[in-house]
Amino acid sequence: MTHSRIVGTGGYLPPRVVTNDDLAKRLDTSDAWIRERTGIAQRHIADESQTTSDLALEASRRALEAAGVRAAELDLIVLATSTPDYVFPSSACLLQAKLGVKGCPAFDVQAVCSGFVYALATADSFIRSGAYRRALVVGAEVFSRILDWNDRSTCVLFGDGAGAVVLAAGERPGIHASVLHADGSHANILAVPGNICGGRIEGSPYLQMQGSQVFKFAVRVLDEVARETLAAAGMTIGDVDWLVAHQANARILDATAKKLGLPPERMVVTVSHHGNTSAASVPLALDECVRAGRIRAGHRVLMEGVGGGFTWGAVLATL
Ligand code: UT7
Repeated sequence: MTHSRIVGTGGYLPPRVVTNDDLAKRLDTSDAWIRERTGIAQRHIADESQTTSDLALEASRRALEAAGVRAAELDLIVLATSTPDYVFPSSACLLQAKLGVKGCPAFDVQAVCSGFVYALATADSFIRSGAYRRALVVGAEVFSRILDWNDRSTCVLFGDGAGAVVLAAGERPGIHASVLHADGSHANILAVPGNICGGRIEGSPYLQMQGSQVFKFAVRVLDEVARETLAAAGMTIGDVDWLVAHQANARILDATAKKLGLPPERMVVTVSHHGNTSAASVPLALDECVRAGRIRAGHRVLMEGVGGGFTWGAVLATL
């Protein structure tokens, strides 16, 4: 039986760092409030000239190099984003061209902050089916472009970045199990409720969020889907070396680890210095830990996403 395995990771953060104190100079907020309520100290913001596919390209190059795979050897490119370069073509197609290759299928996945987990589960299914042998799976975002920078309740939370993994066919898992969910009846609590119609933006082009409702929803489903995924793999939380959950708020991460009975030192926290980078948060956190030598070959990692839609899901993998 064919399995899929993560054989390389990469990440990219734009160089410009914006601290809480920088935000407090122009907004009615403070470093103390942001740290206490979210755990965030700083975020990276893309230069005006940088698009999602540019960020994705840097992360992808690093993941390909780590995997020892050439772009020409890829059979599939799946890119998760809610901030694509254009309405169309997809950012995955633009990334493919920037990588200098053509022919393999390339498409975007839109599942907001669950996007990377959705994209990884999708690529895993293609590989397990035997259709493809090497996939590039990317999460990349420029959320700074869809924030109202005068709305202190949302703009302090997010940042820009990209993360990528190369997934390859192999004899051993690799990915043990994945579980995805959605419930569109909660669409209104986290949305950018605008579209382009007749050449004009209709509705709002900015992110709107009912923060406390999102918080409660996230804590509940991150616990539920972790248990579901572990059960599907015939494992328990004791079999997990690292929890790499979507990085939205340190309090959500703490509550999730507590509910799951996971020791806090096995939970990865990057929201402090990345902010919430939506679909990029999980692969960025994974890559940071791999490069720091914390997550190593043979470690078992539970990756989880939750976000607008609502969407949520988890992937359990041995590296
Ligand atoms: O990727 C998935 C999507 N995002 C999330 O998962 C985020 C989920 N939600 C959260 O992380 C939290 O709900 C927030 C961090 C967004 C807010 O924390 P909270 O503890 O739920 O605060 P709150 O919304 O209940 O607001 C408390 C107070 C309010 O003032 P009043 O009405 O009590 O006078 C807000 O106006 O804090 C105020 N506030 C701020 N104060 C200083 C809201 N934002 C700020 C701010 N600085 N940036």
